[in-house]
Amino acid sequence: MPHPVSPYLVPGFYDTALAKGRHRDIVGGRWEETGRIQMQLLRDAGMQPHHHLLDIGAGSLRLGCKAVPWLNPGHYWATDASRALMLRGRALELADPARLPEDHLIEDAAFAFPGVPQTIDYAIAFGVFTHLPLASLRAALATARQHLSGVQALLLTVFLAPPDRAMAAYRQADGVVTHPDRPPYHSTSDQVRATASAAGWRALPSSVILPRGQTLWTLI
Ligand SMILES: C[S@@+](CC[C@H](N)C(=O)[O-])C[C@H]1O[C@@H](n2cnc3c(N)ncnc32)[C@H](O)[C@@H]1O
Repeated sequence: MPHPVSPYLVPGFYDTALAKGRHRDIVGGRWEETGRIQMQLLRDAGMQPHHHLLDIGAGSLRLGCKAVPWLNPGHYWATDASRALMLRGRALELADPARLPEDHLIEDAAFAFPGVPQTIDYAIAFGVFTHLPLASLRAALATARQHLSGVQALLLTVFLAPPDRAMAAYRQADGVVTHPDRPPYHSTSDQVRATASAAGWRALPSSVILPRGQTLWTLI
């Protein structure tokens, strides 16, 4: 059977997982640790409570449950291919859901950012483009460049492979096996830089060690 472009595109994926109460599992588990890391990355990048944050591919609010209480009320925005997943996170994971208006959770599988205001200061896409081909990243970054014109930094994670190993399956340091042509995907550093540059961004790598061996890039 052919592999799907992304596991999240398998028909019925979200409905089945949510019916089983698995909203934490389908964003990768490691709930507390990964939410805390994302919060720290954003604070290290300069985010303050008065800033507006866009969480791209936010899932069940693994970051949102930490960012919403920390940011000023209404300053957190999120997109995801599944709005139902974000709403489940809002209902079950937020201490005070009233701090996050429901219309800040936007279903957007095309990275078109419909309804996201131009006031976004910081954006993050954590563990999102690890599941999508580089062409999706290229398209998303082009749209983001236009739509998120005031953003101070866009943080994103990808898996990397060395250039001489990138054409085949590659075992990341913590054991995850990534691929050039199916999820989880890897790219080379040069591909990430070129993809960002083609969309009008400058991509800066970081040496921070992230869960599952993902690498962090800051786009400015
Ligand atoms: C590994 S989870 C990470 C979720 C979240 N960023 C976090 O760290 O908790 C990947 C997320 O990307 C979302 N996703 C997958 N394909 C997408 C697409 N085409 N557009 C928007 N979101 C997508 C999935 O629904 C899922 O919530």
